[in-house]
Amino acid sequence: MILTKVALSMLVAMAQAWTLDSRELIPEDGSSLTKRWLPKVSKVRGVNLGSQFIIEEWFAKDSWKNMGCYGWYDEWNCVKALGQAKADEVWKNHWNTWITEADIKQIKEIGLNTVRIPVGFWMRESLVYANEYYPRGGLPYLDRIVGWCKKYGVYAIIDLHGAPGSQSPNEEFTGHIYYQGVNPPQFYTSANYERALKFLEWMTNRIHTNGNYTTVGMLQVLNEPVRGGVNATDMRKNFYPKAYERIQAAEAKLNIAKADRLHIQFMKPQGTSWGSGDPREFLPSTEMAFFDAHRYLSFDNRIEGTKKAYITQACKDNMGTNVTVGEWSLSVNSTLKNTPEFKYQGQETWYRAYWAAQAESFERSNGWIFWTWKCDGVEDWRWCYKQAVEAGVIPKDAGTAAALSPCSRYT
Ligand SMILES: *[C@@H]1O[C@H](CO)[C@@H](O)[C@H](O)[C@H]1NC(C)=O
Ligand SMILES: *[C@@H]1O[C@H](CO)[C@@H](O)[C@H](O)[C@H]1NC(C)=O
Ligand SMILES: *[C@@H]1O[C@H](CO)[C@@H](O)[C@H](O)[C@H]1NC(C)=O
Ligand SMILES: *[C@@H]1O[C@H](CO)[C@@H](O)[C@H](O)[C@H]1NC(C)=O
Repeated sequence: MILTKVALSMLVAMAQAWTLDSRELIPEDGSSLTKRWLPKVSKVRGVNLGSQFIIEEWFAKDSWKNMGCYGWYDEWNCVKALGQAKADEVWKNHWNTWITEADIKQIKEIGLNTVRIPVGFWMRESLVYANEYYPRGGLPYLDRIVGWCKKYGVYAIIDLHGAPGSQSPNEEFTGHIYYQGVNPPQFYTSANYERALKFLEWMTNRIHTNGNYTTVGMLQVLNEPVRGGVNATDMRKNFYPKAYERIQAAEAKLNIAKADRLHIQFMKPQGTSWGSGDPREFLPSTEMAFFDAHRYLSFDNRIEGTKKAYITQACKDNMGTNVTVGEWSLSVNSTLKNTPEFKYQGQETWYRAYWAAQAESFERSNGWIFWTWKCDGVEDWRWCYKQAVEAGVIPKDAGTAAALSPCSRYT
């Protein structure tokens, strides 16, 4: 084969582009580790550690109730109701018991290689104002979880999921619900951007200087901001570029080698995912940038309500390159989910195909991270990976999606 100069330079460029399997394997003994790494796998297969650091009542019902939070729907309001000291005590117990070493071990054993860890900015306690209500004392538990990730060889993405002032209205996942129309999200101000930037700088430092964080390879600057209007534009212009620059500046200050730098993740630009506009628009560069697609077919009202239509759409999905599908589930439209055709009891075989079709499609991109690992007080396993494995819906080997997928029969 004769390569022209152009073709040759293209090959060189491709070789330099980051792929998951270009990352180095951790040495057996964990020594002389110099690179943020993934095990030698070609695709991200993972779960979110949802409700660990930001509890959402709807899938942690028993824990929430036991904490004395029944009747509240966000951390802020329960902390306020319990009082800070009492809240710190009950949260400590939650952090200590929700995700344990056994969970990380099991995650590894069932063929998963990645966790995404949603955290709130309040983990950096000096950034919290005196008139704000968030639990205190979470950080040692994050240190411990990433330590287990290191021990078992699990790649980790730390995700700023709850931003200062809340980035989205009426969402439990922000830690503080603002009701739309009454009290819009307050994140979109320079003061709150600055608090988030300080959080990201601090986390970057921690990842690079605390030995427990060696398998943390990606930092997501913000989960699910508002989708449109002036604030989405303002955020793209005045927050995203600074987030990128300040993370890299923190790394430069620490003299982090190029190969050891973090990937910096933003919600995916366009298409069938997040509608906050193109995050690249004002970025100084896209080197080390990565993108997060959230793909819940249950919220896609273009899908006709049949099993075949769900599978067909799942098989068609293509989320693009430099993208992980950071949130997805086995849910279907809420008007359908309890019908005889779709109810989870008795439809395990179909849901197994639905899992495989989605996972296979997402593996055309850089892989997938299911929402979420575990639930309690909820029987329905469509949002709960661990329970779905126990129910025999998701296979005990996460690497088998392509083999189980019905797509070749549908497309
Ligand atoms: C690191 O993680 C381990 C768990 O693997 C934990 O026991 C230890 O306390 C953590 N170290 C620090 C400094 O937080
Ligand atoms: C934009 O964000 C600010 C601060 O977060 C908020 O006060 C304002 O109401 C928002 N504007 C719109 C149009 O949502
Ligand atoms: C994916 O990322 C690599 C490495 O940063 C870059 O060279 C490539 O252009 C990116 N591809 C797309 C489609 O963004
Ligand atoms: C759910 O299905 C109903 C009835 O078919 C439809 O009206 C609604 O738009 C769907 N919602 C979503 C989010 O797909």
